[in-house]
Amino acid sequence: MGICSERGDGDAEGNMKALILSGGRGTRLRPITHSQQKQLIPIANKPVLFYAIEDVIEAGAEEVGIIVGPNKEQVIETVRSKAWGAEVEFIFQGEPKGLAHTILVAEEFLGDDDFIMYLGDNVIKGGILKHSEKFRESGPDSLVLLTEVEDPQRFGVADLDEEGRVRRLVEKPKVPPSNYALVGIYFFRPSIVEACKRIKPSWRNELEITDAIQWLLDSGRRVEASIVDGWWKDTGKAEDILEANRLILDEMRPKNEGVLRSSRIFGRAVVGKGCVIENSEIKGPCILGANCAIRDSYIGPYTSINDGCTIEGTEVEDSVIMEGCTISRAGRIVESLIGKNVVIRENGRRPAGHRFIAGDSSEILL
Ligand code: DAU
Repeated sequence: MGICSERGDGDAEGNMKALILSGGRGTRLRPITHSQQKQLIPIANKPVLFYAIEDVIEAGAEEVGIIVGPNKEQVIETVRSKAWGAEVEFIFQGEPKGLAHTILVAEEFLGDDDFIMYLGDNVIKGGILKHSEKFRESGPDSLVLLTEVEDPQRFGVADLDEEGRVRRLVEKPKVPPSNYALVGIYFFRPSIVEACKRIKPSWRNELEITDAIQWLLDSGRRVEASIVDGWWKDTGKAEDILEANRLILDEMRPKNEGVLRSSRIFGRAVVGKGCVIENSEIKGPCILGANCAIRDSYIGPYTSINDGCTIEGTEVEDSVIMEGCTISRAGRIVESLIGKNVVIRENGRRPAGHRFIAGDSSEILL
């Protein structure tokens, strides 16, 4: 399906592309990100990045460029494990030198086409189709998505005029001009490439996309805003991942493909193929991936357990557990983010007490 863009400068129609950012380091999500790129962390058992890819394809992008950094193999392998309804290619950024830097790295891929830029650790309710339509109909140089937040200092912030047009943008301001934060989703014309070439690195030594959009404004270009009405999450921290997991699970449809023995399911639960649930209680909304074994346990609301996990004699609630974990007689686990292949079990040996083999930057609350 082609997208025709009505451009203000009289250009002919063009394709819509997408640039999804999956580089960067993810330091706030250590230790999970010591071994895993943050955009691959699963929310309701699906990598965060997949939500972005699905959204841009639904919004009409025919070619998707994914910016990858030092952990590129993981991202490439995970994305290639699925068939997408668009061409997907990978663009290596190397050092994360800023959001505007990714546009310069992708210059050849972007060519003369309009494009959606989507930060690969963002999740938004209901996708971006209506914002994409607004961009095409209204024809500005850029359309930025905004949402009201309580802590605008953590984000790029927009100052809007009476008609809702963007007057000024500032990145992480000490004194924010409004509560409207830039959601990490932007629509651009090729004019943004020149803007990215003209700006200088910021105080954090990055080429900021916020400064590039401000450059468009300063050179008389039209920048419009579209307000996000549902929820939006930047999954930069563990609490945000748990919150995004709750929001996505709240909208999931139930499906049981597993086998239940002396067990009950209450509420909306998704139970994957090959799961065996014995003598246990499952209370939705929650999801169990394929081939999980749940014995003598309780799996409570807002829990996502990925493929191949074994849980026995344990209660788990409001948590994200990645694939291949074994959790046995571990009491009650709440609000936890547990990486792949983790083993948590009762210490049956002497001396009695908690025994840990915890990686760098682990957090253990007893
Ligand atoms: O989440 C929304 C915010 O995202 C906006 O309000 C800000 O205006 C915008 O600058 C951005 O701020 P962050 O400081 O949260 O961006 P972060 O460094 O976390 O990077 C966002 C995503 O882009 C993340 O998935 C990593 C990826 N990235 C980042 C950089 C700096 C790259 O792929 N390459 C990079 O060079």
